[in-house]
Amino acid sequence: MKTELLTADLFEWKDVAKQAAEIISNGEVVALPTETVYGLAASIHNEEALKKVFTAKERPSYDPLIVHIGTVSDLDEIAEISEELRPIVDQLIEKFWPGALTLVLPKKESISDLITSGLDTVAVRMPSHEIMQEVCKLAGPLAAPSANRFGRISPTSASAVEKELDGRIALIVDGGACREGLESTIIKPSPAPSEGKKAIFTLLRPGAVPREQLREFGKIEKPKPPKKGEETPQTVEAPGLLDSHYAPITPLFLYDSIDEFKPEEGKKYGLLSLKGENGDFFKAYQWDKEITLSPGSGKISEGAVRFFWALRQLDEAGLDAIIAEPMHTANVGEALMDRLKKASVNR
Ligand code: TXA
Ligand code: MG
Repeated sequence: MKTELLTADLFEWKDVAKQAAEIISNGEVVALPTETVYGLAASIHNEEALKKVFTAKERPSYDPLIVHIGTVSDLDEIAEISEELRPIVDQLIEKFWPGALTLVLPKKESISDLITSGLDTVAVRMPSHEIMQEVCKLAGPLAAPSANRFGRISPTSASAVEKELDGRIALIVDGGACREGLESTIIKPSPAPSEGKKAIFTLLRPGAVPREQLREFGKIEKPKPPKKGEETPQTVEAPGLLDSHYAPITPLFLYDSIDEFKPEEGKKYGLLSLKGENGDFFKAYQWDKEITLSPGSGKISEGAVRFFWALRQLDEAGLDAIIAEPMHTANVGEALMDRLKKASVNR
């Protein structure tokens, strides 16, 4: 299949969104920019198109998809929200949508098992990216995982999508670099257990919305592990969130201290650094390639935006190994360290 590439610039983006929506309505899958990472979108109403998403990504069927909506009123077509759950869902929507917060909610009967992997819940978010939002308005709610092959580095640019999926999908819309750079935060909200208590949020995946911003609205809990011997995709609260993910082909080692790094003669090593010269790793070795996520200030939000891009650059540099220095875990740093651990072979 020939993959078409359309560039959505400042003046023509609405026209490009219209073309993308038409192709989706004809049953094809299209890679679209969102504020977090590029997504591979299919209509939630077209089973054949949903299957194409899994095939193009080589994604196992036990890993459910996120539904993206263009307007809040579409939520009632997707999720069955009880009276007890409604107030907290409304508060979260008011504060975080459109944006990078995904809510896992009881699903409407009509939602395909292909989307939910047979679970009785569905993940939903309303993206803030104007192109993605427009296509959702024109073509209806879209199921869209990140537009990479399963387990690989998430794409934050159209060229990264091309490297992952060229020849496998009908269209890539180039909307430039993603402004958040890490995937959405996924929570499963539950009503407050009793009067005067806070709602409970099970944090299924840290992401672009930091826990510091969610705390005001509810108590954040870890997912409960399934009983021993009962670990199936249906009993795991966040199926698809495997320990190995976002991985470069070049092995990546995440060390707490540069002392753990034991270079071998004749091998090429690259460094992924947050602060560059201001960190301990930078000057300790003659790196064959080095990428600093936030030169000078070591700002974690800047690091997050550049992270997947940097991983890809290092992976394409012909190195024997990538060494990563630890980053702090405040704010979006929690999501960054989560991705870094999953990308590494030693954590
Ligand atoms: O920022 C994002 O969330 C991006 C953009 C494209 O929106 N999407 C994304 O999708 O990261 P994906 O497919 O790469 O990751 C979605 C994850 C799944 O791996 C799964 O763990 C979780 O969302 N998920 C989806 N439906 C779920 C459900 N019903 N219950 C629990 N987890 C669910
Ligand atoms: Mg993904």
